[in-house]
Amino acid sequence: MKQLWWKEAVFYEIYVRSFMDSTGDGIGDLKGIISKLDYLKDLGIDVIWISPMYRSPNCDNGYDISDYRDILPEFGTLDDFYDLLKQVHVRDMKLIIDLVINHTSDLHPWFIESRSCRNNSKRNFYIWKQGIKNKEPNNWKGIFGGSVWEYDRNTKEYYFHLFSKNQPDLNWENGKMREEIYDMINWWLERGVDGFRIDAISHIKKDVLDKKMPYVKGERYVDAFERYTNVQGIFYYLKELKEKALNKYDIVTVGEANGVTVEQAPLWVNEKDGIFNMIFQFELLDLFESQSYHKISILDIKRILSKWQKVLENKGWNALFIENHDVPRIVSILGDNEYLRESATCIAAMYFMMKGTPFIYQGQEIGMTNIKLEDIEEYNDIKSKEFYCTKIKEGVPKEKVMKILGLSSRDNARSPMQWNDKKNAGFTTGIPWFSVNENYKKINVENQLKDSKSILNFYKKMISIRRENKVFIYGNYKMILKDHMSIFAYTRTFKGEKAIVICNLSVVNALYRYDTIKLNYSNFLLGNYPIDKEKYATEFVLKPYETRIYKLNCLEEDSVWKKNM
Ligand code: GLC
Repeated sequence: MKQLWWKEAVFYEIYVRSFMDSTGDGIGDLKGIISKLDYLKDLGIDVIWISPMYRSPNCDNGYDISDYRDILPEFGTLDDFYDLLKQVHVRDMKLIIDLVINHTSDLHPWFIESRSCRNNSKRNFYIWKQGIKNKEPNNWKGIFGGSVWEYDRNTKEYYFHLFSKNQPDLNWENGKMREEIYDMINWWLERGVDGFRIDAISHIKKDVLDKKMPYVKGERYVDAFERYTNVQGIFYYLKELKEKALNKYDIVTVGEANGVTVEQAPLWVNEKDGIFNMIFQFELLDLFESQSYHKISILDIKRILSKWQKVLENKGWNALFIENHDVPRIVSILGDNEYLRESATCIAAMYFMMKGTPFIYQGQEIGMTNIKLEDIEEYNDIKSKEFYCTKIKEGVPKEKVMKILGLSSRDNARSPMQWNDKKNAGFTTGIPWFSVNENYKKINVENQLKDSKSILNFYKKMISIRRENKVFIYGNYKMILKDHMSIFAYTRTFKGEKAIVICNLSVVNALYRYDTIKLNYSNFLLGNYPIDKEKYATEFVLKPYETRIYKLNCLEEDSVWKKNM
């Protein structure tokens, strides 16, 4: 496998709206990001991914684009963007942007034209179909719930939308539409962006639209995920996208690949002729989502992550992540309030030291938690609101719906970044567009910069350890203690070196015992508790959420091994 810059890099996702406001209008913006670049550099970040910053009516906070070549005025101007890019490059970092090409906003000029009349030249840029007996063309349910079809009174046809009705899907069968998209991508590449996170890309190809889903009792629209996800034939478009746009520059690409299984992943990211450098997998996210209904088993996390490590070994490259703008905060899912520092650092070590490129989502590095919202009016996220309406209509009691939302809403990840303990957590001098988490006085960047034992300083150390030791970048992965219910431990091996990462993902002590490798204090690199300086241990008790990272020479290990034989 090749050694490449983006494999060695650490990525950081910025949700622009909630990161830093420079104007006092309560909304994060590009200049706000510029003012925090030194913070990111100091943390050890190499590549910044920003959520959509294009012109948009903001039904889905920028994931509904109405002009691909301009900036949302609330975020700044194109000149601000160029300045951001320049400032990122001056600091020897890179910037990637979010490419939303499965759909546009319904206010994009293409869609305005498309819906203006049936024979408009842009009509087929989107997916239109006639209804059947005054009803939708099929009974498919979309990703945000409800039908995938919306009726247009003017032209008396339905258009297809996987997400909200304000996000009509582009018709990838249309070659002219595709050329426009490639043009746009090349336009950004010419401006010097360093790559893309490609949104919802596994959905661009749809199955035959006439195929109804089998009727499910009590459901008007039926989950049709497989009809619009990774559908056979998608590679024709993906390959073209790569050839006509992505392949032209030395950039990095990460596809958001909902529904792509681990078995299919090598096709998407294999180093020889895959489409993207990495994909974001959903198996782990689906597991996280199930936490609204039952407790997550650590064994499942171990199984899923290890499977992705093994399948991609020597073939492709993993994107390592545990948070993003669509999932609740990891400490609220897997961690513990009482052990906030310990759990945040333990979970960090768990995923960060695996083989792949680690991504950090803003605020994760200080252990930001889910936000408590009392009423549906306080929510912003379109998906959460649609979920609420559907469930209330189905007769689910309000308290139950609110409880599920509290655990699962995407808004949990979108509260403003907590910079300090001043007004609005230092995010804005105005009125923030969305509630600031009330715990900001305790959990914030400024406090943690001062505290050598903080979560933030743990991240910094972990990042520099990864940077200084190639074993954490290129080393082969092997899970140990496979059946342990709370300890997630693995080794990484590379050119005569071995590292071992041990994480007790539970609130109670756990006995670590692994005879094959004797661990010595002098091999200890990082942990979140003080440890005994005993020599050569193969067994010790891990405290709640304790993590330890060691590095040793394989030769040392071999001799220990022989002695044990
Ligand atoms: C992706 C984005 C999400 C957005 C959706 C529709 O999943 O991460 O935030 O709502 O695509 O664009």
